[in-house]
Order: sequence, then C-alpha cells, then structure tokens
Amino acid sequence: MAGTTRLAGIMGWPVGHSLSPLLHRHWFEAHGIDGAYVKLAVAPKGLEAALRALPALGFLGCNVTIPHKEHAFALVDERDAAAEAMGAVNTVLVLPDGRLKGLNTDGLGFLAHLRATLPGLALEGARALVLGTGGAARAIGRVLLDPGGGAGVETLLLANRTEARARALADFLGGGEVVPWEARGAALEGVDLLVNATPLGMAGQGPLPLDIEALPAGAAVYDIVYRPLETDLLARARARGNPVVDGLGMLLHQAVPGFAHWGGVTPPVDRAAREAALAGL
Ligand SMILES: NC(=O)c1ccc[n+]([C@@H]2O[C@H](COP(=O)([O-])OP(=O)(O)OC[C@H]3O[C@@H](n4cnc5c(N)ncnc54)[C@H](OP(=O)(O)O)[C@@H]3O)[C@@H](O)[C@H]2O)c1
Repeated sequence: MAGTTRLAGIMGWPVGHSLSPLLHRHWFEAHGIDGAYVKLAVAPKGLEAALRALPALGFLGCNVTIPHKEHAFALVDERDAAAEAMGAVNTVLVLPDGRLKGLNTDGLGFLAHLRATLPGLALEGARALVLGTGGAARAIGRVLLDPGGGAGVETLLLANRTEARARALADFLGGGEVVPWEARGAALEGVDLLVNATPLGMAGQGPLPLDIEALPAGAAVYDIVYRPLETDLLARARARGNPVVDGLGMLLHQAVPGFAHWGGVTPPVDRAAREAALAGL
C-alpha cells in the first residue's frame, strides 16, 4: 500500500464473518484502483473514537454492522433521508471537509436486487407480505411502501412472532396491516410478493415454518437470508414454480453507494461481484 491508497473498511463486533471485504476488494481490483478495504474489529465503547479517527487516518469511509448501526447514527455529523427515517446507518462517508455522513442503504439494496432479478414484476399497486419486523424489515417496509423512488406497493402485510412489534412497525411506517403470526400461511392468498426478513432458514437457525400452499403461482418469494444461498423456503418456492430472489444480491447492492464514494466509480453488481462474495459463503 502506498500513501495514496484509497482506504475503507467495515466496523463491527465481531466482524470476522463479513463478506464485504471480498466484494470491495474485488471492485478495487476490477477497476484497477489502488485501494484497500479492511476488517475493523471495534468494540462498542471504541466506536466514537474509531469513527472520529477515520479522517485523520486518511480513510474515505467505512461500513458499519452489528452492533454499531444505531450508535453510528447518533455519532455522524449528517445523514441521508433513509438513515434519518431508520435511525440507523450502515455506511459512513468521510466528506472532503472531514465531516462524517451516514447513509442507510439496506432498503435501496433490497429493492435494487428485486428489480434486477425480476424486472417484469409489477410492484406498484402490489400486495406484499413481510415476515419479521426487525431492522431489516423496517428498511424493507419503508422502501416497499414509498411511492416516490420506492416500490409503491398498495398493501403491505406484516407478520411477526411478537405481534406488538408488528404493530409498532406499522405505526412507524404509517401504513401496513398486521397479520397474526399464526395466520401467516393463510395470508399468502392473493399476495404478489413474500419476503422473509427473519433469520429463520439461516444455517443453524432451523427452517422457516411456513406452509406456502396458498401462495399464488406467480408470486415472487424473496428470502434475505443468504447463508445458505438457497434456503428451505426458496427451494420449496422454486419447486412449485414461483420466481425466487436470494439474499446475497441485497448485500451486494447495498454496498454500491459506499464504494462509489471510496472507489470513485459506481461499481456494477454483476456475476463477477457475486462470485467474489460467494467465495466467502
Ligand atoms: N441480505 C442482506 O443484505 C441482509 C441485510 C440485513 C439483514 N439480513 C438478514 O436478515 C435477518 C434479520 O435481520 P435483522 O437485522 O432485521 O434482525 P433483527 O432486528 O434481530 O430482527 C429479527 C426478526 O426476526 C424475528 N425472529 C427471530 N427469530 C425468530 C424465530 N425463531 N421465530 C420467528 N421469528 C423470529 C424477530 O421476531 P421477534 O420480534 O418476535 O423477536 C424479528 O422480527 C438476519 O438473518 C440477517 O442476517 C440480510
């Protein structure tokens, strides 16, 4: 690395499992950019000092992951609209004057991957069911309902194991109908899009308990879990002919705005980018 190497990284605690370095290093290499993207294992008590040190160390920015997304939101100097709405950031840009700008690109990544995978899927006016109401579902619900730049779905159904959290999310979004967790299978009738935003289906978690009998034949099924790439839910949906969308592309697309800043070019989310990240799965 030279003194001019473009520096970025990911702060998390722990951070060892992250696929982001593989992806950003691939983009640096593919574009012939002298850049480095490092894993920064930052304990919660060190987050403020670590973020504040970025400009002094010559970093152009970083991604932030669990458990830092909300704390980083409070620490940055300015935020984009998505971060303001979410109260969490996943990307921090170092601006030319040394100020820090926080972005939340999860919703954008979710939607960009959906549109890229299923360009024929009509989202405006659609009926969607989201399972889970955690941080990821919050970003997804927001972008699904948003008519300006988002998907503009007509009906958003929310089902969560802890129903009070589904009600809280519907309040936060200013839209959305709560479906009891026990009724999630029946609620599939008439939907155009089903999204799993719980960790169920992830290796070590057990499969998502969901009977998809009532799912319409043409409905799209999007699982944001990406370890494994084809979850039990996606395998069952694919077997009955439903179009499916895996979770890896969301991770790739959400990384684009950060790289555009520290790499200086907007990178393509193509097969090579996907294979670079897949090497870490
Ligand atoms: N593809 C991507 O780029 C991407 C991005 C972000 C997240 N993710 C993945 O998405 C998943 C959710 O992330 P998150 O940050 O939203 O997590 P989170 O904030 O912890 O929320 C987890 C959600 O899943 C529900 N849940 C957890 N265990 C459950 C179980 N055994 N049965 C039923 N519901 C259960 C929780 O319900 P309660 O409210 O009842 O606890 C909650 O609604 C994770 O697997 C994460 O890796 C993927």
